Amino acid sequence: MSNTEQGKKLAAQAAIEYVPAGSIVGVGTGSTVNYFIDELAKIKNRIEGAVSSSEASTQRLKDHGIEVFDLNSVDSVPVYIDGADESNENLQLIKGGGGALTREKIIAQMAKKFVCIADETKLVDVLGAFPLPVEVIPMARSMIARELVKRGGQPVYRDGFVTDNGNQILDVHNLRIMEPAKLETELNDLPGVVTVGIFALRPADVLILGTADGDIRKI
Ligand code: A5P
Repeated sequence: MSNTEQGKKLAAQAAIEYVPAGSIVGVGTGSTVNYFIDELAKIKNRIEGAVSSSEASTQRLKDHGIEVFDLNSVDSVPVYIDGADESNENLQLIKGGGGALTREKIIAQMAKKFVCIADETKLVDVLGAFPLPVEVIPMARSMIARELVKRGGQPVYRDGFVTDNGNQILDVHNLRIMEPAKLETELNDLPGVVTVGIFALRPADVLILGTADGDIRKI
């Protein structure tokens, strides 16, 4: 197993301590979360079930025999565990590399505590080296792409990819995001933008990083 994979797995294992007994757990999407789902399966008799941010995670949870609830049938989500593509020291994130950003942001918003899990390479000084995913309504794609160019970005259409919500993704290169909450708000305001992959208005509460030397670091 590579250092990166080892880091993801360590972070995923460490997140289990944040899962309250008897709870419905918010579950994100991605390779790090896949390790978390496998850990959650080991304690599945101690939880009520999960709410999931993607069809892929739902399938993995069900394969492990974990019940997946519709978010509308749930009153509260005590903890949400998810990965990230980048995090800064303020726990503001870029997410959406796997295209699940909209459902991720919905569950993060509802969660009392958002625990982000990642290998240590995801921690950066300034967000934006990872291309920023923006989910858009298909008919608005080109208009939004032009707006992103005006803001100094270089949007690339994620060709052939359709989100779980039936929308498209623009991955925006060349950004150095100095004011994440401001850019998140500004892009949210463009008609046709469904979700911006900046998680700054609702950042993570805890970041667990798995390190190359087999340790974990919490911020
Ligand atoms: C999914 O849309 C993303 O937000 C993921 O949480 C993010 O891409 C991290 O994925 P990995 O755990 O696979 O790096």
